[in-house]
Amino acid sequence: MKDCVTAAVIGLGRIGRTHAEILVSRVGSVRVKYAADAFLNEEMKKWAKELGIKGVTDDPEICLQDPEVDAVYICTSTDTHSEYITRAAKAGKHIFSEKPLDSDLVRLSGALREAEKAGVKFQTGFMRRFDRNHSKAKALIQSGKVGRGQMIRLSCRDTVQSPYEYLKVSGGIFFDMMIHDFDMVRFLTDSEAEEIYAAGGVFTDERLNDIPDVDTAAAFVRMKNGMLAVIDNGRQCWYGHDQRSEIFCTEGTVQVMNEHEDTVVVKKGDGIYAPKPPDFFIERYYEAYVAENQSFVDSILFDRPAAVTAADGVEPIRMAKAAQLSLEQNRPVKLSEITEYRIV
Ligand SMILES: NC(=O)c1ccc[n+]([C@@H]2O[C@H](COP(=O)([O-])OP(=O)(O)OC[C@H]3O[C@@H](n4cnc5c(N)ncnc54)[C@H](O)[C@@H]3O)[C@@H](O)[C@H]2O)c1
Repeated sequence: MKDCVTAAVIGLGRIGRTHAEILVSRVGSVRVKYAADAFLNEEMKKWAKELGIKGVTDDPEICLQDPEVDAVYICTSTDTHSEYITRAAKAGKHIFSEKPLDSDLVRLSGALREAEKAGVKFQTGFMRRFDRNHSKAKALIQSGKVGRGQMIRLSCRDTVQSPYEYLKVSGGIFFDMMIHDFDMVRFLTDSEAEEIYAAGGVFTDERLNDIPDVDTAAAFVRMKNGMLAVIDNGRQCWYGHDQRSEIFCTEGTVQVMNEHEDTVVVKKGDGIYAPKPPDFFIERYYEAYVAENQSFVDSILFDRPAAVTAADGVEPIRMAKAAQLSLEQNRPVKLSEITEYRIV
């Protein structure tokens, strides 16, 4: 058995750096040999040096061709994931890919076929599954202590909209943002989606009309086991990253509330004041990112299946595709209409 995994992180933006920092400082039995970015700049080099990563390159192929590298983290822009999945699989590297695996299911199916052929570990970056609150909610539902699940409500609103250049290649709100909620719906109901009806609009940034995309969206999901889900997303929310979940069951309700810096509430004549939720999703979910990284490294060390598989990555993309079609055609869309890809 190996006692240490050698990793390379490709894509040094917001999430790539988060993974690299966590791997270096919080995850055991792993070393980060490379940090790669096709658009490497001086600031990235400085960041990598401070973190103690020696292999800094603008050519990800160098990491892929290094026999010492066991695993790659694909943290590049969404429209490049399939290409890197294919290249990493052909090089025989274990793969952690950020969500969404792609917004193009045809392109993705070719890439995942290569990963399957290579027999490498594959984990999809759905960190919310590793959040201690959502794990507890799932355990409660599974225990039957609150009866049978009936309906799920999920809200996710980002504090500040992601950069416009990022949004242009993100695949759109259903693929980029609501994908986490689609994953949560599957995770919390233990079922697959049957039908989706979605709506959306542009309220805060007119430039989204040119992509085209929306900054505000809602979806209604009917699951195969009969459960219902209602999801809302917003790209801009001034009081912090607002992400709450509720599972309404026959004998009670399970709620996952926002995390706060502290619980101090100040009551005065002009109002009642409490701390805001964290500004950034990375802050809210930091410990979940730590846990997902440890889980991936352990799956390699102990040769066990990754906790969030390629199939878990694909199905929410099919849901996003159905939601996008629903928005465009203003009608409920059955998942059976999304035929480009089925669970691998
Ligand atoms: N799981 C999560 O919570 C989470 C959070 C944020 C982002 N993401 C996902 O991670 C991916 C990256 O998001 P981000 O916010 O870090 O974006 P970002 O724009 O901050 O960073 C992307 C980086 O990839 C690099 N890059 C782009 N094309 C490349 C290529 N062909 N080869 C090598 N490097 C390339 C860019 O130079 C940039 O540094 C997206 O797919 C996004 O959906 C996931």
